[in-house]
Amino acid sequence: MASIRRLTVLCLATLTTPSSATSIPNTPVNEFGPSKAAARHNAFDIFNAIHSAMRQWGSSLNHNGMSLFVVTVPPGGMELAGVVGRPDPDGVGGVGGVWDVDARRGVMFGYVGAEVVKARAGGEGRVVDWQGVVDLIVDRYADRLRYMAEGVESVVWMRSAVNGLLNTHIDYSVEDEGYQAALERCAQFYTRVVVPDTQEDHLILAAVETVTHSICSTLFAVRKLVVEDVHADEGSMVASKQALRALTTKLKWTKWKECAACKVDEVCFVPMWPFGDKASYERPNCRNATSLDNGWWDSDTQYWHPIPKMMPPPDYET
Ligand SMILES: *[C@@H]1O[C@H](CO)[C@@H](O)[C@H](O)[C@H]1NC(C)=O
Repeated sequence: MASIRRLTVLCLATLTTPSSATSIPNTPVNEFGPSKAAARHNAFDIFNAIHSAMRQWGSSLNHNGMSLFVVTVPPGGMELAGVVGRPDPDGVGGVGGVWDVDARRGVMFGYVGAEVVKARAGGEGRVVDWQGVVDLIVDRYADRLRYMAEGVESVVWMRSAVNGLLNTHIDYSVEDEGYQAALERCAQFYTRVVVPDTQEDHLILAAVETVTHSICSTLFAVRKLVVEDVHADEGSMVASKQALRALTTKLKWTKWKECAACKVDEVCFVPMWPFGDKASYERPNCRNATSLDNGWWDSDTQYWHPIPKMMPPPDYET
């Protein structure tokens, strides 16, 4: 009897596994729906959305960031700034329990939230701190990549910079054709310990590893130019910097727009609706209380058009 029960439990476990959290629908990339191909296709944006989530900085540079709003939604739905609020039918919560009027976006705001909650409850309760993972990657590479793309002037220093980043991943005691094994170790260095649980975890993992793979393969290409080629010259430097700049253009990390340290009476200013000027969107800069609103009020320089009527220009200008 006991063994039959155990067998039944085992069968149930086996049967439920593929249909639950770990199955990844493979929607074609040109159709709406989750798929690994879509995650890879949008990898650089997904990576940055995770990095900026709930943070003012990146969300001010790439608008429509993620935030939490506390709302009270009366029964029956309510029109509010283009968003229809409806209580989550399952009562699981969704993300804030708010569904968009558009069914597809409703899926994003409500349904996915509810599915994640269900999947986590059904799984072993593992939660992957994806923002923590992405932070480690940005912290490791942001300054180094910028230095190599813009700052390094000699082959000797480029060689030293690329070796500093890659030697950790290279096993010089074994044959490694084309450094393929080292490249994989480099690309998976920050995700190796991640145990993906939900479908979302698998999709995010695909996106994050697409990004790290792009970083690591660029670095190995640079290594080939300046380390493997013992006769590396000015031409190798030009090619290396070109590859690194192509990478930083793809990555679009908002950290590269941060100000150098501002004084205590200054803030690193970036336009936030309805305040700001175009120049500080392109290059956020340190401002004190008097220089803060430079360029906000002139229609040629202001970032937001039109500036809402509730925003009068400051007294001293009238
Ligand atoms: C504020 O910053 C501006 C521009 O950098 C500077 O000219 C001005 O002296 C500063 N004002 C104060 C009170 O520090």
